[in-house]
Amino acid sequence: MPTIIEPFRIHSVEPLRMSTAAERREAIVKAGYNLFSLRSEDVLIDLLTDSGTGAMSSEQWACVQRGDEAYAGSPSWYRFEAAVKELFPFAHVIPTHQGRAAEKILMAAIGGPGLVIPSNTHFDTTRANIEATGAEAVDLPIAEGLDPALEHPFKGNMDLGRLDALLSARRDDVPAVFVTITNNSGGGQPVSLENLRGVRALCDRHRVPLFLDACRFAENAWFIRERESGQGGRDVADIVREIAALADGMTMSAKKDGLANIGGWLAVRDDRLAARCRNLLILTEGFPTYGGLAGRDLDAIAQGLKEVVQHDYLRYRIRSTDYLGDGLHAAGIPVMRPSGGHAVYLDARALLPHIPPLQYPGQALAIALYEAGGIRSCEIGTVMFGRHPDGSETAAALDLVRLAIPRRTYTQSHIDYVVEVCTEVAARAGELRGYRIVDEPPALRHFTARFEPLAK
Ligand code: F0G
Repeated sequence: MPTIIEPFRIHSVEPLRMSTAAERREAIVKAGYNLFSLRSEDVLIDLLTDSGTGAMSSEQWACVQRGDEAYAGSPSWYRFEAAVKELFPFAHVIPTHQGRAAEKILMAAIGGPGLVIPSNTHFDTTRANIEATGAEAVDLPIAEGLDPALEHPFKGNMDLGRLDALLSARRDDVPAVFVTITNNSGGGQPVSLENLRGVRALCDRHRVPLFLDACRFAENAWFIRERESGQGGRDVADIVREIAALADGMTMSAKKDGLANIGGWLAVRDDRLAARCRNLLILTEGFPTYGGLAGRDLDAIAQGLKEVVQHDYLRYRIRSTDYLGDGLHAAGIPVMRPSGGHAVYLDARALLPHIPPLQYPGQALAIALYEAGGIRSCEIGTVMFGRHPDGSETAAALDLVRLAIPRRTYTQSHIDYVVEVCTEVAARAGELRGYRIVDEPPALRHFTARFEPLAK
């Protein structure tokens, strides 16, 4: 049958609180026009993030009951470690409370002033953790990845020519190369196995370790299975193991493809690096058999890792995101093509050409979607990436609005509603105004900045 159904049925429900446009306008003014500052009860369809917002399975809830809260050496830890190593057989697995804690610990161990860490595209927390050590974070996506309308199977790929040039010029300043799978800031686009092998070959030639930011590894592996020649018949778990074998370590947020509400880990091959990271872990996260997590969290993640590589789940997951992307595309709304694994990205710069990047077209569109339909999305553009450590401000490469799909959470009619709201806002795009920032923190400003609409 052509319809790919959800491979689950609903077991417990969370009511949504309906709201009027007038109530939403009041709420967004109070929030300083920052969607992160809204009370989530004032949101109808929350597409702010796919991080930690998914629904756990009945098996995962059973695992929560099984969680063992021993401070050291809990059986929950051993189940977690085994589940991670089943997919990512690195010698050392270090649990953390979420992805950025793994990043902070790793960057504290390998970063520092004068160093440079390249990636296909660093996620904002990764970049901030690199920059916090005084090192430089460099993005080297392929050129196709920067053209939102272009159809390409692996727009998350890294530009191997530019990576080779950087490593040739500054090899001694590069403590690691990172590859983000899928490339979240670049549109949730996958990286091919061929590209990963190419990055590995360059890392070998220049003797630099390769790390994965593997938050959405299962979605990336499904795209490889679907789109890369010769991969079609493979088991996704096998593809994941092949990806892991190409790397020297990984950072992970279990809030994505761990199918859990909290958690993460850092994994490395190198014994000495692992020892340094564990010492840092004990300072801020906790003992190495629980990181910042409860035993019940470790168990929920262990089960999530088994479910996330199931083909029925991934077929549904990728198709349901594409269903939103296709609906918007068919309605003539400019979206990043093809759809990402976890999100669809509206091209705000294309939809709102009358709003210059430094007046934040992505923020303007995100606010309009909230006011019109109670949809919370996330600006990924000049608000998120425009401010630099030296204080200057420039336009980001793209001004996107991300509609991130929580895993196993919303139904097809929720998504049909999202398409309707976006279509209504797009029809009056010319009326939307830009914004200015009235208050911002020194780093990661998108979380807490306050905005004001510009006069017409
Ligand atoms: N790396 C990537 C690619 C991410 O998408 C995220 C989080 C992190 C690292 C950090 O993980 O949140 O567990 O500390 N992304 C979320 C998002 C917040 O909405 O895309 P974390």
